[in-house]
Amino acid sequence: MAVTDHLDRDYLRQALEQDVRTGLTSSPKWLPPKWFYDAAGGELFSRITRLQEYYPTRRELEILRRRALDIASLSRADTLVELGSGTSEKTVLLLDALAAVGTPRAYIPVDVDAAALEAAADRLARRYPSLAVRPVRADFEHQLSALPRTGRRMVAFLGGTVGNLPPAAREVFLKELRSTLRPGDTFLLGADLVKDPRRLVAAYDDAQGVTADFNRNVLNVLNRELDAGFEPGAFAHVARYDEDHEWIEMRLRATRPMRVEIRALGLTVSFDEGEEMRTEISAKFRPEGLAAELGRAGFGMVRWYTDAAGDFGLVLAAPRSRAGEP
Ligand code: AVJ
Repeated sequence: MAVTDHLDRDYLRQALEQDVRTGLTSSPKWLPPKWFYDAAGGELFSRITRLQEYYPTRRELEILRRRALDIASLSRADTLVELGSGTSEKTVLLLDALAAVGTPRAYIPVDVDAAALEAAADRLARRYPSLAVRPVRADFEHQLSALPRTGRRMVAFLGGTVGNLPPAAREVFLKELRSTLRPGDTFLLGADLVKDPRRLVAAYDDAQGVTADFNRNVLNVLNRELDAGFEPGAFAHVARYDEDHEWIEMRLRATRPMRVEIRALGLTVSFDEGEEMRTEISAKFRPEGLAAELGRAGFGMVRWYTDAAGDFGLVLAAPRSRAGEP
């Protein structure tokens, strides 16, 4: 399967270099979560989705199983664009539903993980012989304008990944996405909901330590890509719920003082013992808050769905028409 690649080596390299230089020279230090997802990180995330403590994937699947037909008949899309598609596990439910109410023509999975993208694209092309499967390797946060604009599209952004964007970046992302959509297109957004902090923390700090390995994997990525000298084993996994911001924060805590060389950047960073570096925020939402954010970006809520336990939310939204548009 030919993957349209918007992430040439130069782009990836520059983005990684800039993120690492900015994040590791800030105080407190931080790294963006997008760099978790090399092949090993994709595999670890896949294991996370099967952990007993990690409910979001299971809950979102429950919603899709019950509501995919409703979503499909409201959207009447012939083209499904999926941002951060990963293994495309949930996509089958949407494609089956779209096929039941119409004729889906194209599926466009978009991800940074090339291995996951190819495997998923091949699998879905075999399952739906008349569907044009066109995988795109891209950074959906910054390359929305590179996505195909043909057909009546439903853009799906599932799993709660929207929560990885800090509020200001989220606002920019939603506005940019809105500006690429036309009347008739729809946006299907999955969001994890505010709940008992103990359950939230358990979901990001599982007993088997899979999430800890996933967290530390970003250091392996830096070692390989930037010739850095991190010792992943010298960092402890930390997951905290920030009640004020209503988000989970993952951090890596230096268990002793360290100086780490990042040779490709000509940069040496020092860690104090106990110093924590933020590697991910995963925001949790309330339905009213999400509706307000979507509204500010120019979307109207078409339908709100949740699972029986009220753990996870799925919104079908549509661009509100604007002056000058048909
Ligand atoms: C893939 C972004 C939805 O934030 O829950 C899982 C990533 N991080 N465990 C999330 C993740 C730690 C996940 N998303």
